[in-house]
Amino acid sequence: MYRSHTCGELRPSHVGQTITLAGWVQTIRKFGSITFVDLRDRYGITQLVFGEELNQLLDDSPLGREYVLQITGVVEERSNKNLNIPTGEIELNVSALKILNKSVTPPFSIQDDTDGGDDLRMKYRYLDLRRNAVKRNLELRYAVNRSARNYLHENNFMDIETPFLIKSTPEGARDFVVPSRMNAGQFYALPQSPQTFKQLLMVSGYDRYYQIVKCFRDEDLRADRQPEFTQIDCEMCFVEQEDILSMFEGLVRRIFKDVKQIDYVEKIERMTWEDAMWKYGNDKPDIRFGMSLCNLKFPSHTFPGKPSMAELIDTANFPVFDNAETVVAISVSKASEYTRKQTDELIEWVKRPQIGMMGMAFIKCNPDGTFKSSIDKFYSEERLKAIASAVNAKPGDLILLLAGAEERTRKAMSELRLELGKRLGLRKENEFKLLWVLDFPLFEYDSDDNRWVARHHPFTSPKPAHIEMMINNDPVISDAAKYLEHPYANIKANAYDMVLNGNEIGGGSIRIYQRELQEKMFAALGMSKEESLHKFSFLLGAFEYGAPPHGGIAFGFDRLCAILGGSESIRDFIAFPKNNSGRDVMLDAPATIDQKQLNELQIQTVEK
Ligand code: AMO
Repeated sequence: MYRSHTCGELRPSHVGQTITLAGWVQTIRKFGSITFVDLRDRYGITQLVFGEELNQLLDDSPLGREYVLQITGVVEERSNKNLNIPTGEIELNVSALKILNKSVTPPFSIQDDTDGGDDLRMKYRYLDLRRNAVKRNLELRYAVNRSARNYLHENNFMDIETPFLIKSTPEGARDFVVPSRMNAGQFYALPQSPQTFKQLLMVSGYDRYYQIVKCFRDEDLRADRQPEFTQIDCEMCFVEQEDILSMFEGLVRRIFKDVKQIDYVEKIERMTWEDAMWKYGNDKPDIRFGMSLCNLKFPSHTFPGKPSMAELIDTANFPVFDNAETVVAISVSKASEYTRKQTDELIEWVKRPQIGMMGMAFIKCNPDGTFKSSIDKFYSEERLKAIASAVNAKPGDLILLLAGAEERTRKAMSELRLELGKRLGLRKENEFKLLWVLDFPLFEYDSDDNRWVARHHPFTSPKPAHIEMMINNDPVISDAAKYLEHPYANIKANAYDMVLNGNEIGGGSIRIYQRELQEKMFAALGMSKEESLHKFSFLLGAFEYGAPPHGGIAFGFDRLCAILGGSESIRDFIAFPKNNSGRDVMLDAPATIDQKQLNELQIQTVEK
């Protein structure tokens, strides 16, 4: 037996007992003839005291940071207590020491505030994982995992594994491919998700499936994206959208309760995609704060039925607004006293290439009821007042206005809103706001390929009322610039996303389960009959053997953990993550492979 207790376990009640610990040396402090060593394991830190006799032992075999020790000693009450750590009232007076292994000096200090930069810590991730901060993240991840499994198990879901070596499932990203030695010249794809398998399991009658499963997507990486990430993937038969929403609200509430001890009793808000775009310019709005968009001018086909206020701004002979497709504004509370420098800085912010605007106009609503504006050359006081009232701005507020092409301007305003929310402290880390976004468009237009693509995936069903619209209209577009005017742009999907604090943490849909409709869908996406059979004959075939109505959802497990843990980056919650170029810097992967392996696979590489 290597140890009788852990380093996080000893309390004053253990005083007088002889115990054995094993762990890593965190710090060594020498005071004359006494040496103090902090010994660390997964459970905590215990202070060891090497008295005069044992100091000789340390002289003979000196200790270093991260040495692995086995020590035996008597628990004693500390005279100088450290109430900041659970074991801070005791120390271990060492009577026997065994060095189980030595360590070279670690490349960075293994402490909460480490001196190691990102790259170094990733290279030595096994050392980084020893740090408390990282360990806490993995503990949270495991708690979310357990909570989800318990809830799903209690609700009759069955965990069924699905294969990793498959044929491509289109989910919008590129596939990672794996060459097959036994089938030279052919490739497996790694699943972007188990989507088609879970649907097949429904056909097989496993009416409640789940899996906490790795998914692989070759896409550009960001703080909330990894090339391999984990989903809590679920599917149910004989359900409508409402059944799914209520089942998975239950899951998220349970996770909040188990992991954060938060009773999320509030009703989870619901918003249509159209309203989310209208009010926030974003399909995953952060609703922890208001500052919603005021749409002064917009192309009528983008928001049919919404009231336009174009006449308010269009008749002032201000070419920037007159020529713009869209003019959108937000009102920043109590910001009318912003200095020139501050407004200039915001203008520069929207001009950054990532945001891509040419400029920004502002109207200061002075507390005395007057206005000061960057566009008062064109707009009379009366007009500015009318705009302020449209935007719902109060005296003391600052109105910011962006003008330009619809998509870019809306997106830019959404980003600006989030940025201001951050700067003004409105996006509080410890506040959690869940939201369902519903009724997404079924299609998106890919102007590079000149065709419609499925916004969620090709297995998502259209809203029943829109099926006719899909079947009766030719997907071909004569003028790509006017795709938004095509009837397909208005077809809504039976799809839903769950959003937490402005992050998409889950998404799913009610699926197509009839062969004919699935074939129509493939055709709408520009797939020939041969191509759809080549890619999906297994699914189309299965739909002929009594496929039940079904639907499901998948949660981004890493994202959910990161948000619950108060971090922007999912990397912090993954034991062995990739860096932003998709590399594992610890393994130094991806890497070239031996010529012998290439030969076996019948693959030739080409120097570029
Ligand atoms: P979707 O593609 O929306 O749906 O993915 C579900 C959730 O997975 C998370 N996610 C990611 N997390 C980290 N890195 C990535 N690269 C990444 N990509 C996605 C997001 C997202 O909401 N098969 C469907 C689900 C279904 O229809 O049931 C699917 O995969 O949080």
